[in-house]
Amino acid sequence: MDKILKIGIVGCGAIGKDHCRRIMETVPGATVVAVSDYVAAAADETAAKYGIRSYGSDCKGMIADPEVEAVVITSIDPTHHDYVMETLKYEKWCFCEKPLSQNAKDCEEIMARELEIGKKLVQVGFMRRYDRGYAEMKRIIDSGEIGAPLLIKACHRNVSQGPGFKTENGITNVAIHELDICRWLLGDEYEDAQCVRVRQSSNSNKGYDNPQVVLLRTKKGCFIDVEVQVADGYGYDIQCEVVCENGTVKLPDPYAVVRRSRPDPAKDPGETMPIMTDWKERFIEAYDIELINWVASVNAGAITGPSAWDGYVACVAGDACNASRGTSQFMKVETIEKPELYK
Ligand SMILES: NC(=O)c1ccc[n+]([C@@H]2O[C@H](COP(=O)([O-])OP(=O)(O)OC[C@H]3O[C@@H](n4cnc5c(N)ncnc54)[C@H](O)[C@@H]3O)[C@@H](O)[C@H]2O)c1
Repeated sequence: MDKILKIGIVGCGAIGKDHCRRIMETVPGATVVAVSDYVAAAADETAAKYGIRSYGSDCKGMIADPEVEAVVITSIDPTHHDYVMETLKYEKWCFCEKPLSQNAKDCEEIMARELEIGKKLVQVGFMRRYDRGYAEMKRIIDSGEIGAPLLIKACHRNVSQGPGFKTENGITNVAIHELDICRWLLGDEYEDAQCVRVRQSSNSNKGYDNPQVVLLRTKKGCFIDVEVQVADGYGYDIQCEVVCENGTVKLPDPYAVVRRSRPDPAKDPGETMPIMTDWKERFIEAYDIELINWVASVNAGAITGPSAWDGYVACVAGDACNASRGTSQFMKVETIEKPELYK
């Protein structure tokens, strides 16, 4: 009989519920057996929907449950490090949503524990690597057909943020996706990074910088700029263009029909294209492929997706960005030597 991986989920908020549905309905070879959340009612509600066990707010109790073979961590960012370490205490498989931790030091602790166990058990939720658009961009860049990559121009725009959001979270929570995908696209590592404050949007007088611009230089000399708007007031808009020696590759917009009609100044300008506002929809296929691949690799005994090392490098670059803010200087992106386990 085919293996069915038994999963426990920590965090039943937006993406926790979505991953639960995904695993129950779309991902072969796995099932969710238990859920938990700091807010017990959130876990109870998700558990009731699927007739599975709720551990209420006892997240650590759920991780320890011998029936739980793998843990999916979808709680808020500052909790990731502790729940990953708790999962590794039992040497269980772990899928941790981005970011792996809030800083590089905490990621080093996770890698040290994996090295002690002698096996990669952690995968980080950098789902863009599974998006068809990014994957095709990488294929073209790697083929060398349009020459070596020189520059990346990217932007990450979110509609709005919840309470408690801070300027640094524009990097640790938002631009962390770009910090991973740019090095993956280029097959290159960062040399240094800088975060620049620019003219502020009137959508953003809530105590955090918006927009901010992240500048990165790579070991091979590529230059990357990422516009980070965490409250753009209009949509979830992700753009990425890689400029190569003999051409460019650009991330396609998601499927959307362009409507052309007789212009009516009061109603529509004649040509309109819908803009997504919900991040869950923009990368829906990538999330599916990501979890299908993760379960298949775990069931085969070795994870193949973004590792704790990849989570770590993104956090090192993020730390450099946050340290550079207000200094007008590039900060070195200095990692520890890459352990053999992650090569
Ligand atoms: N890969 C992606 O594109 C992507 C997209 C969205 C969210 N995320 C990540 O997933 C995580 C969750 O995001 P979300 O949008 O679902 O947020 P959310 O606020 O909707 O849900 C977070 C949940 O965590 C719970 N929680 C808070 N503190 C906890 C604790 N100490 N222990 C256990 N649970 C706790 C909350 O009660 C809530 O139910 C975040 O880390 C976020 O960065 C990743």
